[in-house]
Amino acid sequence: MIGLDGVSGEPNSPDRHRLDSLMLFGFWYRAMPSGELVSNRLAKALLLETPLVLGRDRGGKPFALHDACPHRGMPLSYGRLEDSEVECSYHGWRFDAHSGQCRLIPSLTSDQPLKVDRIYAGSYTCRDQDGYIWVFIPDPPPPGAGFTKAVEPPIPVPCVLTFGDKFKTAHLTADLPASVDHGIIGLMDPAHGPFVHRAWWWRTGHSIHEKQKNFEPLPMGFRMSAHTPSSNSAPYKLLRLYADADAITTTIDFVLPNQRYESIRAGRYWFTSLTTVTPVTRDRCRIDVVANYNIFRWLPFGPELLKAFFARFVEQDRLTMERQSEGLRHEPHLMLIDDADRPAKWYFQLKEAYLEAKRTGTAMRHPMTSPVRLQWRS
Ligand code: FES
Ligand SMILES: [Fe+2]
Repeated sequence: MIGLDGVSGEPNSPDRHRLDSLMLFGFWYRAMPSGELVSNRLAKALLLETPLVLGRDRGGKPFALHDACPHRGMPLSYGRLEDSEVECSYHGWRFDAHSGQCRLIPSLTSDQPLKVDRIYAGSYTCRDQDGYIWVFIPDPPPPGAGFTKAVEPPIPVPCVLTFGDKFKTAHLTADLPASVDHGIIGLMDPAHGPFVHRAWWWRTGHSIHEKQKNFEPLPMGFRMSAHTPSSNSAPYKLLRLYADADAITTTIDFVLPNQRYESIRAGRYWFTSLTTVTPVTRDRCRIDVVANYNIFRWLPFGPELLKAFFARFVEQDRLTMERQSEGLRHEPHLMLIDDADRPAKWYFQLKEAYLEAKRTGTAMRHPMTSPVRLQWRS
């Protein structure tokens, strides 16, 4: 069970939560920045506690295999890549890098009838998209190495929005010592800004004020409807340098299992990002941000400034979660309050609704039935 751990009947009392960090299988996840995957080298990745070996063939096309040889479990990442075959370092079995199909067992004599091509190392569908290698982690997970072929993903790989063809891209990565749930609710939490992202040149504790935002349901998530960003927010201050403040609108979507899409538009200028929180293990996750933007394109050092600015934000969040994890180690009960933690509640309810629909084979029952206005101070 995710989530509710006994809700008090009082209308305005906080909900008590205990998280169990269930990881959602059956989705695409970012495995690593594309630039870290080079030809002729094997790389390791861990996604949802699933060990993967990744690489690129001669043509640069990426592949992902289960990082355990179907013979005796040796991680294939210790082996080597030759042409489009991965050779295990233990007994030299060779596998097609893309299909995982076994091509050679060196110890077999010519009269031994073992059907080599019926053996598979277990392969995962992967794509190079927006500067990341994405891997589809199927549900149910493959039954380990043996005879499994890759699953064809029923959903397309997520991508960052663009509003034109001339833009810059930047990405950032940070490892968080927290479950994917804490990573995600930390990302959608509006109330920490004045405290975590405080700086004299940016905002102080005094800039806190009341806000109202409208939210609407999306098929697998929810949207903070298009609005003018508040005057003490990051996008507003950046874009005010560029465009008429009244023309700025921003929309933020959260989509299961882990995607936060933001798009900000100000006349012909725009900034979009896709942030994901990827479960590495039950209690570790990784946050990756990819941003596309056409602001600051002509300003010398503009992209560098923008990147430094966002790196600072992500670092503040990372440090906060690292400290929070000290407290979480003792498994405290947690509270989610209205309205500032309502998006976090929707996240848990969505996750539960998704799992329930899977279990019962029925349509997913969305926790939101209509648009909702939330209010908080931040
Ligand atoms: S363990 Fe891989 S070939 Fe034997
Ligand atoms: Fe933050």
